[in-house]
Amino acid sequence: MADEPSAVPRTVTLALTGASGMPYGVRLLECLLAAQVRVYLLYSQVAQVVAKQEMDLSLPGRAREVQEFFARRFHAAEDQLRVFGREEWFAPVASGSNPADAMVICPCTMGTLAAVACGLADNLIERAADVMLKEHRPLVLVPRETPLSAIHLENMLRLSRAGAVILPANPGFYHHPAGVEDLVDFVVARVLDQLRIPHRLMARWGEAEPDSEQ
Ligand SMILES: Cc1cc2nc3c(=O)[nH]c(=O)nc-3n(C[C@H](O)[C@H](O)[C@H](O)COP(=O)(O)O)c2cc1C
Repeated sequence: MADEPSAVPRTVTLALTGASGMPYGVRLLECLLAAQVRVYLLYSQVAQVVAKQEMDLSLPGRAREVQEFFARRFHAAEDQLRVFGREEWFAPVASGSNPADAMVICPCTMGTLAAVACGLADNLIERAADVMLKEHRPLVLVPRETPLSAIHLENMLRLSRAGAVILPANPGFYHHPAGVEDLVDFVVARVLDQLRIPHRLMARWGEAEPDSEQ
């Protein structure tokens, strides 16, 4: 548990759901592990489909295999990464007695966003998010959809009022991105800022080179 609300989280729950934008989620996982954060990783079934579609990433079917896959890929320390299946109700994240210090759903579908807004808690992602809200711990959702319906907007407002941070996957262009990786890092940097995790993904506003034209 973090010592105080503003402390850097030692443990973060990261949920990947089946929205476009899987590179944001995978890059965020890489950055969290590189920052020595302990990560509980959750993923929906459609997240596997999108990972294949967008990144040609074949996530194994079993949580333990996904754990080995990402731990190897991102050189995680032993026990730094734990992956849980959608109905592993005995995972720490399922209970308010042992939640992570913060949680991020990235990318976040409108379906999962709606389920969290309604408190459904029907799978481990929804339950873990529900726990964060009831325990008043940081919950960041990175939704990706366009255009947004009144239902989407109402759900986001509801979550925001309940204490969640809605951080849409909207990269800016004022830092003159050289490519897709810079756009991904823009969004991931904003998520890390919310978590108060130090990073050097991109220059901060007002700290760019004097001759740049931000
Ligand atoms: C390739 C692909 C891209 C998708 N992109 C989005 C998206 O950007 N936003 C969204 O809300 N749903 C998107 N969907 C639909 C969701 O995956 C679908 O509603 C799913 O039931 C959500 O389940 P989940 O929240 O458990 O992952 C996409 C589906 C696929 C297969």
